Amino acid sequence: MSRLVVVSNRVILPSERVQRAGGLAVAIREALSSSGGLWFGWSGELTETPEPRCQTATKGKMEFAVFDLTPAEFDGFYNQFANSTLWPLFHYRIGLVKFSRSALETYFAVNARFAEMLIPHLKPDDTIWIHDYQLLPMAGELRKRGVTNKIGFFLHIPLPGVDTLAVLPGLGPLMRGLAAADLIGFQTERDLQSFKDYVRQEAGGTISGNGAITCFDRTIEAGAFPIGIDTRAFATLAARALDKPECQQLKEGLGSRKLMISIDRLDYSKGIPSRFEACEELLRAHPEHRGQFELVQIASPSRTDVASYRDLRREIDRLSGRINGAFSEIHWTPIRYINRTYPRQSLAGFCRMAAVGVVTPLRDGMNMVAKEYIAAQDPDDPGVLVLSRFAGAAAELGSALIVNPFDVDQCADAMHRALVMPLDERQARWRTAMDTITRNDVKAWWTSFTTRLRAGQTRAAA
Ligand code: F6P
Repeated sequence: MSRLVVVSNRVILPSERVQRAGGLAVAIREALSSSGGLWFGWSGELTETPEPRCQTATKGKMEFAVFDLTPAEFDGFYNQFANSTLWPLFHYRIGLVKFSRSALETYFAVNARFAEMLIPHLKPDDTIWIHDYQLLPMAGELRKRGVTNKIGFFLHIPLPGVDTLAVLPGLGPLMRGLAAADLIGFQTERDLQSFKDYVRQEAGGTISGNGAITCFDRTIEAGAFPIGIDTRAFATLAARALDKPECQQLKEGLGSRKLMISIDRLDYSKGIPSRFEACEELLRAHPEHRGQFELVQIASPSRTDVASYRDLRREIDRLSGRINGAFSEIHWTPIRYINRTYPRQSLAGFCRMAAVGVVTPLRDGMNMVAKEYIAAQDPDDPGVLVLSRFAGAAAELGSALIVNPFDVDQCADAMHRALVMPLDERQARWRTAMDTITRNDVKAWWTSFTTRLRAGQTRAAA
């Protein structure tokens, strides 16, 4: 079988510990460590004069090749175009979109540099799989430089509807670069539909009865491939985490109180302020829960150079202070808001200890924490997942308590229901969800995408 070359902005090098809540890089590492292949991307380092060649490493069946960005590249590509233009737009936050032509140019230039740095590492029969919105036009940059290998692309975040997409200046060249891939994968059928709508309504393309998509002078394929986690491994990690010091400390702090857990990057797409407001409403509408639970919100700092992320942090600081000020007792604080990153095993343990997992993003491509929360549960006494209908995970986890995160009262009701739900109902809901994520695990995601990519026919449009 041809070697797989995975390209993503972030790469977890063999020397690094994984300290993040869910995420794309964790999924790639889990899958690539068993299938083998090359993982190529940004080193995570900035230098004024980057080396012309990649740094390389090997671990087991995995090879790594990474390169540095300059501070100017990082700012235009990552802070500005990826995270101040594409990210808010693709999460339906048009009001937060900032656009500059120079950032768009830097974004394309960095995608071109990704292509140039990768080419010396490519073998003729390699299969290339590019990941996420930071690298939308990279396939086009590879084709411009004569690369004829099979190329797949997977979008980890939502693809918004065509009216929202059309807001983006430079959309045409971006999508032309994307359509240079042979197979484009999305998290959900809804995202796939957005792509098809774009092809028909904006790109003047066509979609044939067998699903082949013709646009930008090529015929390509697209599909929904919901990403999974390594369910069994996470369940084991969680069960073994309980005697770790951080879990013990949390247990002692809680006493007999129930734990509600939320774990996110500190990002406005995650719906943290409305979640806190829902907790406040729960305390107001159901005083019987006062002193009986704690909401532990772990929010790891993210994209701190971007103004909207700094604004969010201030908003959450203020809100948690206000709610805690109003409801705390001398021996109890309703919201424990922790602005730091924890080791993956501690997070797994926190999930296992939690009677309720609150995963209420305003919009999310998938949300792996929802799946990790389910995987971490004790089958004899599982907790309840409260899940936003706007997380990609909701398409698979219908047995969770599904909420509209914009409806604070509904979220408060769901929290109440979760806190008082009888054991047999908790077990039935959890079993359905666990069966789904065991079937649709990270290996199934990986295999279904790469099998379809390798089997597909690359065609120039007739
Ligand atoms: O899944 C979305 C995503 O942006 C990934 O591409 C990325 O690895 C992760 O979230 C964390 O974001 P960042 O790389 O900006 O820290």
